Amino acid sequence: MADLTSFFNPKSIAVIGASKSPEKIGNVVVKNILSSGYNGEVFPINPKEREINGLPCYPTIDSVPKPVELAVISVPSSMVLDVAKACGTSGVNNLVVITAGFKETGKEGLGLEKKLASICRQYQMQMLGPNCVGFMDTHTPINASFATGFPLKGEIAFISQSGAMVVSILDWSFSAGLGFSKFVSLGNKAILNEAHFIEHAADDPNTKVILCYIEDVENGTLFLDTARRASREKPVIILKSGTSQAGARAASSHTGALAGSDLAYEAAFLQSGVIRARSMPELFDLAIAFANQPIPRGDRVAIITNSGGPGIVATDNIESKNLKMARFRKETIRQLGNFLPGESNIYNPVDVLGDAKADRYRFALEKVMADPGVDSTIVLLCPGGVTEPAETAKAMIEIRKKHLDKPLIAAYMGGEQIAEGAKILASARIPCFTFPEPAILAISGMVRYARFRNLPEGEALPLYDHIDKKTVKLTIDQVKAEKRLVLLGSEAAKLVNAYGIPAANTILATQPEEAADVADQLGYPVILKVASPKIMHKTDVGGVKSGLFSYEEVRRGFIEIMENIQRYMPRVAVYGIEVQKMMPRGTELIIGMTRDIHFGPLIAFGLGGIYVNLIKDVSFRLAHGLSLREIKKLISETKAYTLLRGYRGEQAADMEAIAEVIGRFSKLVTDFPEITEVDINPVFVYNKGVSAVDVKITVS
Ligand code: ACO
Repeated sequence: MADLTSFFNPKSIAVIGASKSPEKIGNVVVKNILSSGYNGEVFPINPKEREINGLPCYPTIDSVPKPVELAVISVPSSMVLDVAKACGTSGVNNLVVITAGFKETGKEGLGLEKKLASICRQYQMQMLGPNCVGFMDTHTPINASFATGFPLKGEIAFISQSGAMVVSILDWSFSAGLGFSKFVSLGNKAILNEAHFIEHAADDPNTKVILCYIEDVENGTLFLDTARRASREKPVIILKSGTSQAGARAASSHTGALAGSDLAYEAAFLQSGVIRARSMPELFDLAIAFANQPIPRGDRVAIITNSGGPGIVATDNIESKNLKMARFRKETIRQLGNFLPGESNIYNPVDVLGDAKADRYRFALEKVMADPGVDSTIVLLCPGGVTEPAETAKAMIEIRKKHLDKPLIAAYMGGEQIAEGAKILASARIPCFTFPEPAILAISGMVRYARFRNLPEGEALPLYDHIDKKTVKLTIDQVKAEKRLVLLGSEAAKLVNAYGIPAANTILATQPEEAADVADQLGYPVILKVASPKIMHKTDVGGVKSGLFSYEEVRRGFIEIMENIQRYMPRVAVYGIEVQKMMPRGTELIIGMTRDIHFGPLIAFGLGGIYVNLIKDVSFRLAHGLSLREIKKLISETKAYTLLRGYRGEQAADMEAIAEVIGRFSKLVTDFPEITEVDINPVFVYNKGVSAVDVKITVS
């Protein structure tokens, strides 16, 4: 992956399109670089000027007498290609292209952008943008952007696909007192994208939290691998807007219809340990908590409040966010009971009552934080006649010093009366929110992250035996040669069988007697199904006959099905009738796949059968990098899992066999990108083994 060390910490910078006019971006960029405290050399480039901002100006990049490590380009789009080429021949390593007018404007702009990217590749230059604000690094320090202001020094790296978000958040951060290590405006991501910057931030000692705003991910597998590695180092929090096109297209399979537009991202974030924020406030609430507080050891939360209502709101929220209300040990309860007034609640949530001054908060907090059954604490305060928000804040700061391994977050519910106290807390890096919900959301995000990081790395899928790629390839080639996209049932069964997924034996017959002979061979009972890629709902047109026990029944069944098709769909091409051995009934499951344009195969698992779309008991995972542990988690997330474990005294299903089938299935759809959609529905699972009964496969 790209080494961005010289990008963020260049020894020298050229600004191409530097200007004397204060209203021009080229002027602002030079001023920003100088005022950020950047201590390398700066070379303004402008053919008309001799001096800009007190610096000697050069007419072209190749006239600069020293090596240039970074060039910021702010000339009109018609000139960008020539300027970029000149940078390449002059040995510039890194570009920031602020100029707009590329792929965001349509076909012509896209063409221009492709040419720009190819120049960068030709000269091995890293490029941020085009169509971006630039970047800032408070530790270098450097402000290679045209944004107004320079962030406070801090430990949050903010990577944003939206330039507007960069400038707005920067402005807001001053009033919020929030510091950043880096600000990166990604722009059109023609060369460098979020994955490159996430990777760099993961290794950056000045960054503790990685924050991203993204609209799309083009290279899904690169993103998955990078985010997974980065999340092991530090929290990666992402706000993703927009929906993927893969989900927007009409889906012909059950799996496709269930997957929806956003599920690939949801799965990607889940599998890579990314914490997903649902809104801008959430993104920054999480960032504030992660940047300033330790990662909790567990999910047990204590609440200290001076009023009942907010305490109840907080308790409700804790339960809905998969956290637990901490249960205090006897000693803590005894101590709280001895000191607090009789009307107080000494159990969690601890209510120190409306007339509590700082001393009561201090005492309760000291005892609660020392309790080994408490992993994190939230202090709620509503201003009243005798409340001491500032003194209470000071008490919290003191007590926190003794428990630096446990998160402490405040919700001061008010405005003017609590302002000073909130400020004291923020300056001591104790996050202070206005309401309980964001405080709990922040803790819940931290707990989820702790769970991910505490897990050992998921081991890769085993090297399964009995994988027959040749048969799969031959089958697909044959289907393509016949200019078909949908496989016949017998072809689909053969295909999954070739990857060791046991499918019910299915053979195509073209004559009634042939079908009857096949049935004799397979053994009874059998089921007959019309074989035609054009008939999606076979039962509706009389194309299925099940429970046939003899040669004669099969022979007659064949003729009846053909007559039905002749009657209902006379113009449809029929390949014959498929004879399938009827399998004993097991628990009906669905295993499916739909292909996301960015992330590749998205695997679905859940309760199968004809009500699958109604019940919607299906979970999803991306096949890329899928581990056995993730597969087991996928199975356990569904309601089907309760059935599989042996509901109401029934025998448990063969979980190992299900996990193996999902693993083999995942390999199959990864190895063959031409398989676009699969539904295996139902898959019967027994207490020993599984059997894929109905397999539908579509190829591209
Ligand atoms: N080499 C060096 N300097 C040159 C060259 C060259 N080849 N060609 C022109 N210049 C000089 C110009 O003479 C001018 O200097 P001057 O003021 O002394 O005359 C300077 O470079 C700038 O060129 P202009 O033609 O004046 O261009 P202008 O500054 O008006 O616009 C810009 C250039 C800002 C890149 C514009 O084309 C643009 O893309 N604007 C949009 C930027 C943007 O929005 N980016 C996305 C951010 S995301 C967001 O904000 C939400």
